Amino acid sequence: MCTLLFLPHSFNAPPVGLVQYEAYMTDDLHTHETLMRELMSDERRTEYATPYDHYHPGIIARIAAWLLVVPGSLIYGKKPSYRKFKAIEIIARIPYQSWEAASYTLLTLFHGDEQRALALAKTTRWSRMAQDNETMHVVVVSHLVHKLGRESFVRGIVIPVLFSLAYFAAVYVLYLIHRRSALELNYLFENHAYAQYQEFLDRYGMVLKGRPVVSEFLSWYGREVKNEYELFESLRNDELIHRNRSIREIEARCC
Ligand SMILES: [Fe+2]
Ligand SMILES: [Fe+2]
Repeated sequence: MCTLLFLPHSFNAPPVGLVQYEAYMTDDLHTHETLMRELMSDERRTEYATPYDHYHPGIIARIAAWLLVVPGSLIYGKKPSYRKFKAIEIIARIPYQSWEAASYTLLTLFHGDEQRALALAKTTRWSRMAQDNETMHVVVVSHLVHKLGRESFVRGIVIPVLFSLAYFAAVYVLYLIHRRSALELNYLFENHAYAQYQEFLDRYGMVLKGRPVVSEFLSWYGREVKNEYELFESLRNDELIHRNRSIREIEARCC
């Protein structure tokens, strides 16, 4: 998807199907970016968040989320920090990759069922876009962590990667056998990320407003921010959109 989304302007005369596909995905990205900007307003954000603030996930999702969040807080601290965000963002991309892989597995099995194939294909489209969004998060946050100086190889790379491998396998299996729990687990993880970004903004807002952001990757993604405050606001809003969308998937697919 990412290749298609960011085709250079000089790309000439692609097949009609490709044009339609690109237009669809661009429109989806445009919708996301428009909503993300709307959510800068406290009033609009409250209105958007409230219907899903008190959603109650099932026991499977709650146990799995506990296994992610509690060790994470023990290793990286309870308070939000740049290094904790980097670990969160390495792990945050994983469910979307797992969902895509699991959806393709299901499409292999159920390709003859057009309605089911359509539902799965719609989910994979969204998960591909979310992967690109989370990739932007991890690249930009890693760049900020790099500026802080040396970081522990174990805490900075080894632990998040091991978490990611286990998370990928667990979510893949969960998505195949109990999709609701896989989506609810993502709701909980995204809610955690959303709350951590908000706390970070509340604690260090004044400092963050004085730190400019220069990121080639962020510009390439198509997002402009003046300083770290605006960057973290935009990341917070992305996580809120992912959080709500996880439950909307359940509502739409009735799984
Ligand atoms: Fe993220
Ligand atoms: Fe997210």
